[in-house]
Amino acid sequence: GESLAVQSDSRDIVQALHDNGKNYLVLYGSQTGTAEDYAKKFAKELAAKFSLKVMCADVESYDVEGLNKLPSDVVVSIFLSTYGEGDFPDGAVPFEDYLAGLNEGDLENLRYTLFGLGNSTYEFFNGASKKVHKYLSEAGATLLGKYGEADDGAGTTDEDYLAWKDPLMDLLKSELGLDEHEQKFEPNFGYSELGDSSENANTVSLGEPTTQYLPGNQLTFSPDGKQTGPFDSTHPYVAPIVATKELFNSGDRNCIHADFDVSGSNLKYSTGDHLAVWPSNSNEKVSRFLDCFGLDPDMVFTLKPLDSTIKLPFPTPVTVGAAVRHYLEITGPISRQLFSSIMQFAPNEELKERLKELSRDKDDFAKEITIKYFNLVDALLYLSNGAKWDSVPWNFLVESIPHMQPRYYSISSSSLSEKQTISITAIVEQMANPVSDKAEPVTGVATNLLRHIQLSQNKQDVGSSTLPVHYDLSGPRGLFRTYRLPVHVRRSSFRLPSNPATPIIMIGPGTGVAPFRGFVRDRVKFSEQQPSVSLGKHLLFYGSRDENDFLYQEEWPEYSKKLGGVFEMIVAHSRLPGKPKKYVQDRLIENEKEVFDLIAIKGAFIYVCGDAKGMAQGVHSALVTIISRGKNVKESDAAEMLKLFKSSGKYQEDVW
Ligand code: 2AM
Repeated sequence: GESLAVQSDSRDIVQALHDNGKNYLVLYGSQTGTAEDYAKKFAKELAAKFSLKVMCADVESYDVEGLNKLPSDVVVSIFLSTYGEGDFPDGAVPFEDYLAGLNEGDLENLRYTLFGLGNSTYEFFNGASKKVHKYLSEAGATLLGKYGEADDGAGTTDEDYLAWKDPLMDLLKSELGLDEHEQKFEPNFGYSELGDSSENANTVSLGEPTTQYLPGNQLTFSPDGKQTGPFDSTHPYVAPIVATKELFNSGDRNCIHADFDVSGSNLKYSTGDHLAVWPSNSNEKVSRFLDCFGLDPDMVFTLKPLDSTIKLPFPTPVTVGAAVRHYLEITGPISRQLFSSIMQFAPNEELKERLKELSRDKDDFAKEITIKYFNLVDALLYLSNGAKWDSVPWNFLVESIPHMQPRYYSISSSSLSEKQTISITAIVEQMANPVSDKAEPVTGVATNLLRHIQLSQNKQDVGSSTLPVHYDLSGPRGLFRTYRLPVHVRRSSFRLPSNPATPIIMIGPGTGVAPFRGFVRDRVKFSEQQPSVSLGKHLLFYGSRDENDFLYQEEWPEYSKKLGGVFEMIVAHSRLPGKPKKYVQDRLIENEKEVFDLIAIKGAFIYVCGDAKGMAQGVHSALVTIISRGKNVKESDAAEMLKLFKSSGKYQEDVW
């Protein structure tokens, strides 16, 4: 094993860079992990190609005030995602404040590169990185290369990154006078193997959820025995799933309702928040991965950061099997970039050449890999005709494959009516395997896990090969009686108006209805508690294909009975046999008069939840039409009015 080369606990970024002997700085601000992923990839490539000593840090972890004191030969590469209405990620808000307070010339000596990660279906596309660009150039810093913008809305994040990165690498090479060599893996961690897990029985993490905390984080309990937070992305609460239900099943699509019991913790949520759920990979996917790379799942290993700027990604010692199952995103789409770094370990020259070609040819890669929905193992085995890739070192894989990120769901319960239970509504989609219909269908990690838990809890046959790990009495250490998954709550701004008399219009087709179930249950509970307070109109536009995928169909009439008619639902079905296709926006137009009256006269709040691209935009243009006709103004004026609604919180979106 290797030990820490340098110790520096400084939060001062310039000091940390200096103490650890680094000569390049990559900074990221990430909300869901994508910006972090790209920052790390970029840092790894600089190290692998130019042997630069790169420090890659979350802006959250350091005091950035010292950027103006950086040595003038150090370049800063910034990766920043945009969140919500053009906002910085939560952890990057102090960074924003720092930049906003800079004066002209403050960063005259700074050279930087900038890559923003955003989604063009949102109004303030790449709003956060645009602000960084403006602040830095006003402070006199010099941008190297182009200001890059990735667009997840167009599904081109990876290609946007590569198109920005490739010329930038050449530019940095000449600007900094660097020597380029073939990519060579430069590990960030000292890696050692400790042997079989049975020899290390008590100290080793098997990746059970209770150990899914970063090192040094102790569980704490309040006097009444509840586990105390704060619970966040590094300290999830491992919540029992107390009930699951299949809301519909149409063969290739089904929908799961799951209730998480949070009564064992002090975890709190508000109606309209999101639940982050940490999935784990299925037995089948884990075995296939281990097999492809010739890995022994029982092998115990440790990782030690080689300097103090590097964070341990998960607790070790841990078994290879547990790391693959809980910490690596082994079934995600692959980036061309990964091929150019894995190439150095190809089992033979021919495969190395093939990887090189694919990593350089965008169209070839799209045709051979992307459109087939290959994950890494699928792709490698396809290229090698099923022959193993056991020449690829495990510690390279650990450092090169993205780490598992939580999945976010809009909460479909109400914190007013069920404080201790958090419900989510998740659609599970299966896609026929594009390579062969005999091969396993393509599925999502988290939704598929939820589906298996639902089947298993309801005593249905799951097919042994795809069963998820049990955290029950038969589990590795017999810790839990029920399924549990690590969760935390992410606050959202999706909130009911504080005055219950304010009318609201909710628009949520498909699983977009989830938060509105929470809203309506909230109002039902409220009116039980305060029957004398009168409520404004609560109008819900819902859309589904037909009756079969109509979510919570049996619940809605009950809510309307309890709310005495102030709750009304207008439904659009898009695939009823023999009937024209109807979407929620069509229903908005059909109910133009009432919608206009609610918005323009009665001051209704508008809420939209669901698909960002087609639906939310379709709804927006329907609203523009309704307002412009109702007020007899130009469409551009109506759009301006909606923009004001948005900034004042009267028009809220929870879209993805
Ligand atoms: P479709 O799939 O039949 O086209 C929930 O998924 C509902 O949302 C379905 O009825 C689906 O219709 C519909 N939907 C799909 N695209 C939409 C869009 N651009 N605007 C509104 N609804 C849409």
